[in-house]
Amino acid sequence: MAEVKPSQDKVNRHGYRSFTLGKFGFDRDEYFAHVTWPGGSHTMPIDKFLRALMRDVAWNFFYGTVNFDEVFGTTNHYGTVDVYAGLYNGGYRAQNKHYVETLSSDQVRALFGAILEDWTNAGFDPFAAPSETGTPFGRKNGTNLPAIQRSRVVAKRMVGLKGDTPLRSDDSGSPVNRQFRDIDQSEPEVHAEPGFEDEVHAFNFFGYLSRSDVTWNPSVTSAVKDSLLCPTTEEYMLPIIHGNDRVEWFVQLSDEIHWDVHDRETGAPRARVIMKAGDVAAMPADIRHQGYSPKRSMLLVWENADSALPELYAKKKLKPNPVDF
Ligand code: PHB
Ligand code: FE
Repeated sequence: MAEVKPSQDKVNRHGYRSFTLGKFGFDRDEYFAHVTWPGGSHTMPIDKFLRALMRDVAWNFFYGTVNFDEVFGTTNHYGTVDVYAGLYNGGYRAQNKHYVETLSSDQVRALFGAILEDWTNAGFDPFAAPSETGTPFGRKNGTNLPAIQRSRVVAKRMVGLKGDTPLRSDDSGSPVNRQFRDIDQSEPEVHAEPGFEDEVHAFNFFGYLSRSDVTWNPSVTSAVKDSLLCPTTEEYMLPIIHGNDRVEWFVQLSDEIHWDVHDRETGAPRARVIMKAGDVAAMPADIRHQGYSPKRSMLLVWENADSALPELYAKKKLKPNPVDF
């Protein structure tokens, strides 16, 4: 396994630190992130890079592959991570120009966290919709630790149950988002039989989601064994191209999202999916996808957290699509 060198303390002429991970180098200037590796280099707009990096760190490398774009990204092996350039790019692969290092998840997370901390300026929130945040561009200008250190909502059983992650309200600092002012905020009445007060529970799911201050950040609002309901509010575009290692179900709860669906390995186009309120889709286990939400919308992502799944799909013991029509 390649060694992770501690990040250097050298500050570049734009005021930012430069970082090394194995043989990868990371540098930023006023507009771009620059990634280098033996035999290649890559440039990404810094807003796009920081939004992708934020998700990769906050989600602990997520399920399967987090493509920052068509070239750079990570694949989660749940303990180790492949950090790659061109690994899932048909053109790079055809010319044998791809590069990958397998590193320990802890090391990669620590280094990515340090990059995120140093390169995120005051006023820029990588989780916010573009209309709700300041600029990431320019010379080094302070930090935004509260934005990048938000803890992800992960309910043990269900949001709002005793001892579990709390409901949201004005008083708890979660106002209704500007685009969800029309959402009814009344809560259901629950009349439990004596003795079952901690077992019977309900809350206004739309009201809860209307108070999310982040975009493209599924949170676990209920868990039944491996079945995780992960709703999220979306605006602008998913900052990563997610390569699935299992099937994911999407339920479009409000408004609409347009999805580009590509082959997971090569990036070759496979489908366009326009999801409107009420639509349900099963995203196959052998694709990558990226969504575009023209206005803030609500999406329910249903994940199966069974750790046996990636291998079952990789060995073709399960079909990549869960339903045949
Ligand atoms: C996904 O890759 O399936 C995904 C990720 C983040 C979201 C929604 C969907 O907010
Ligand atoms: Fe996905």
